[in-house]
Amino acid sequence: MKLQIINGPNLNLLGIREKKIYGNQNFDDFFLKLQDEFSAIKLDFFQSNIEGELIDKIQEVGFICDGIILNAAAYTHTSVGISDAVKSVKSPVVEVHISNTFAREEFRHKSFLSPNVKGVIQGFGLDSYRLAIRSFL
Ligand code: DQA
Repeated sequence: MKLQIINGPNLNLLGIREKKIYGNQNFDDFFLKLQDEFSAIKLDFFQSNIEGELIDKIQEVGFICDGIILNAAAYTHTSVGISDAVKSVKSPVVEVHISNTFAREEFRHKSFLSPNVKGVIQGFGLDSYRLAIRSFL
């Protein structure tokens, strides 16, 4: 099984950014743990702060992998382009968020992605990614 994790803007600052919300761990270290934990799966990881690069990645992997785990971060709440990309590809997409966006500001309650994804997992910290991987097993 081949799964692709895609992280959007500012998630490269995990471990530095707003630690009370997003925790102390940087994603590169966490990703190594995930690879260890799910060694039977081919797990890949991509992060970009640029909307078009996220769309390019979804298109690139969206016909060849078994699933995409997508945290589009702030673009979740703004991007018709990413939503259309999710709808256009064959691979099922699970939307993840580290925080519970419904417990935060109202502008975070709207997701342009949710109508086009297989499911949404949010609010479990970095464990949201673990749960998303498990959902494919
Ligand atoms: C986030 C939630 C978004 O509202 C926010 O813009 C992020 C991270 C999360 O994982 O909790 O950057 O997607």
